[in-house]
Amino acid sequence: MLSLQWVLALLTVAASASAAALLNDVVIITPITAPDAGDVWPVGSVQTITWDTTTIPVGSEDATGFILLGYLEDGSSNEHLDFQNPLAQNIPLENGAVNVTVPNVAARDDYIVVLFGDSGNKSPKFTIH
Ligand SMILES: *[C@@H]1O[C@H](CO)[C@@H](O)[C@H](O)[C@H]1NC(C)=O
Repeated sequence: MLSLQWVLALLTVAASASAAALLNDVVIITPITAPDAGDVWPVGSVQTITWDTTTIPVGSEDATGFILLGYLEDGSSNEHLDFQNPLAQNIPLENGAVNVTVPNVAARDDYIVVLFGDSGNKSPKFTIH
């Protein structure tokens, strides 16, 4: 299951639009509702990531996902996703929330988190310092 998610994740990163089209029957899009644009996460603090569960299709109630930290510079489409250090894994998508400890990363104001179920869902940019 994990390896399938990795393949889907890589497909999604490479070409989210065409991946979504290819996987039409199983796409689960759960828009992230927190963090919000401009939020500030202190390193080492515990933060709650939330997403909309109302979009989970019937039949996919048991789906799990994982969350990656990345950053997105203005004018670039490279999300710099940190696949080596997922913020959270094996999250039941139906939960709609997970608490994560903010890793000790360099201060930036263009961090994003991406929730992968069968499709990537990206947050607005926020700050870690
Ligand atoms: C996150 O932590 C807060 C504070 O301890 C707690 O109230 C909340 O239930 C936790 N949420 C999740 C999804 O674990």
